Amino acid sequence: MKFFSQKSIGVILLFAAFISISATVKFNSRPGDKFKNLKVLPKDISDEDLDKVMDGFKEALGVKCGFCHARNADTTIHKLDFASDANEHKDIARYMMTMANEINANYFNWEKSTRPDTIHAVRCITCHRGLKEPGAEEIGEQMKLLSPQIEKK
Ligand code: HEC
Ligand code: HEC
Repeated sequence: MKFFSQKSIGVILLFAAFISISATVKFNSRPGDKFKNLKVLPKDISDEDLDKVMDGFKEALGVKCGFCHARNADTTIHKLDFASDANEHKDIARYMMTMANEINANYFNWEKSTRPDTIHAVRCITCHRGLKEPGAEEIGEQMKLLSPQIEKK
């Protein structure tokens, strides 16, 4: 018995070719076209590097993407609107990125590099250590875990 006629095999192959072409086009499009609202990161950042930065934020603060990114204004779309600035945590994150960049540029740039943005001595995780708000209270809790004798006055 024949499951596929020659014609349907042709259609399947054509479909597969279409999928691989559209995948290639996606990867080859100019990076600058993709991200619409970068104010701190380089506008031509690659997909891969942006993913690394965002995954780093997620881990450093112990949150999910939605902690900083707003839901889509169109509630029928169940995806985050990454370009939107509606979530105030996103601008706080920008402020923190600028702060970390400046600490690195001013205090760790021994070689007077012209690319201080590539120095990562101080990063989100340096202060946050998996916490959203590394305030005095949270740090106190972590210190107790690290050195229980602190509690015994
Ligand atoms: C701590 C906050 C924070 C978290 C968590 C976070 N992001 Fe972001 N994201 C930002 C900020 C801030 C920008 C804008 C950076 C800039 O202005 O240069 C951004 C930008 C982006 C952009 C570019 C949007 C555009 O078109 O301009 C994408 C895509 C993105 N994030 C995806 C993600 C994904 C996926 C995750 C989860 C893995 C994630 N983000 C987690 C803060 C965050
Ligand atoms: C020098 C230490 C330090 C560094 C580095 C740092 N943060 Fe923070 N961050 C803090 C502190 C402290 C707070 C809490 C401020 C408060 O409670 O008012 C905070 C708060 C935040 C908040 C608000 C959380 C909330 O619940 O409102 C976001 C978002 C954030 N940081 C993102 C980042 C990102 C992203 C990075 C890396 C680019 C970063 N931070 C690097 C110290 C730091």
